[in-house]
Amino acid sequence: MTTVTANGTPRRKFIGMNVIIKKDRSAWLQGPSAKCSAVPGEHKHPWRLILLGAPGVGKGTQAELLTGRLDVCHLSTGDVFRAAGERLDRDQSPAMKEALEYMRRGELVPDSTVWEMVRERSSCILDCGGFILDGFPRTLGQAESLKELMEKEKLSLSAVVNYELPLDEIVRRLSGRRTCGKCKSVFHVTERRPKAEAVCDHCGGRLYQREDDRPEAITVRLEAYERSTAPLIQFYKDLGLLLPIVATGSPGEIVAQTMDKLDELAAQRGDGDDRRTTLHLAPKL
Ligand code: AP5
Repeated sequence: MTTVTANGTPRRKFIGMNVIIKKDRSAWLQGPSAKCSAVPGEHKHPWRLILLGAPGVGKGTQAELLTGRLDVCHLSTGDVFRAAGERLDRDQSPAMKEALEYMRRGELVPDSTVWEMVRERSSCILDCGGFILDGFPRTLGQAESLKELMEKEKLSLSAVVNYELPLDEIVRRLSGRRTCGKCKSVFHVTERRPKAEAVCDHCGGRLYQREDDRPEAITVRLEAYERSTAPLIQFYKDLGLLLPIVATGSPGEIVAQTMDKLDELAAQRGDGDDRRTTLHLAPKL
C-alpha cells in the first residue's frame, strides 16, 4: 500500500512494517528556507554514497530503490533544477534561468552555479545522517569541491557506485523514460510501465517526457558525460572508493547486486552490524 505525505513524498506500507521508500527532500529540492519532515537515521556509520554513470544508466531508479533500504536521503542535482524550472518565471534567479537553458540543450550547467546551489544545501550532505548523491559531482572541479567540504567537516564518503551499461541500452532507456511531474518517480514505457497509462503509481501525478530526453539533447548529454564526467571514474578509483556494477538486468536485480556489494564492503570495514541493510524486508521488484 502506498500513501503520500502532504508534500507528495510517497511512503509504502507493508503488513507489520513501515518502509519509507523516499525520504522527504523539501530542503534539498526547495533550498535552505524549507524544512524536511524526515528524521535522520540513527546509524553510527551512515552510508554516504555517490552514484556515477552515464545519463540514463539508471542512477535515479537505483537511488529511489536504495534510499529506503539504506535509510538515507536521495540528493539529485537534476531534480533541483527541474523543481526550479516548475516555479513561476518571476521566482527564478537569473543564474537558475541560465542553468535551465544549459539543461534543455543537454549541456552541463557551469560548475560555479552547481556549486552555489549545492553549497547552500550543504546541511543535506553534512547533517542528514547519510545520503546518495545522484548526478553530482559531474566534473573534477565539483568532485574536488565536495571533497574539500566533507574533509572540513571530517566526514568521508563510503563508496562511489559506478553503473556501467552499453550505449544502445542507455539510449533505449532515455528515450522511453517518463517522469512524474509531482513526486519525480521514474517509469519507462516498456520496462517499468505505470499501472495506468501516464499516471504515477505512487501519487497519481501526470507522467511526462523530459525535454532533455529528445534525441538531439541525448547526443549532447552523452558527449558531455564522456568529456567531463567519465574522468571521475579514475579519480574515485585512485581514492579507493570505486564500486563498479554492470547495470544490465531488471532494476530489482541491480539493486540486489548493489546491496550485496555494499554489505561486503561494510563487512570488510567491520561495521556491518550497524550498516546492516533492510533488503530482506523489501518487496520483490
Ligand atoms: P540529471 O537529472 O542528473 O540526469 P542524468 O545524469 O542525465 O541522468 P538521468 O536522470 O538522465 O538518468 P539516470 O541514470 O538517473 O536514469 P533513470 O534512473 O532515470 O541531469 C539532467 C541535467 O541537469 C544535466 O544534463 C545537466 O544539464 C544538469 N545537471 C544536473 N546535475 C549537474 C551537475 N552536477 N553539473 C552540471 N550540470 C548538471 O533511468 C532511465 C530510464 O531507464 C527510466 O525510464 C527507467 O525507468 C529506465 N530504467 C532504469 N533502470 C532500468 C533497468 N534496470 N532496466 C530497464 N529500464 C530501466
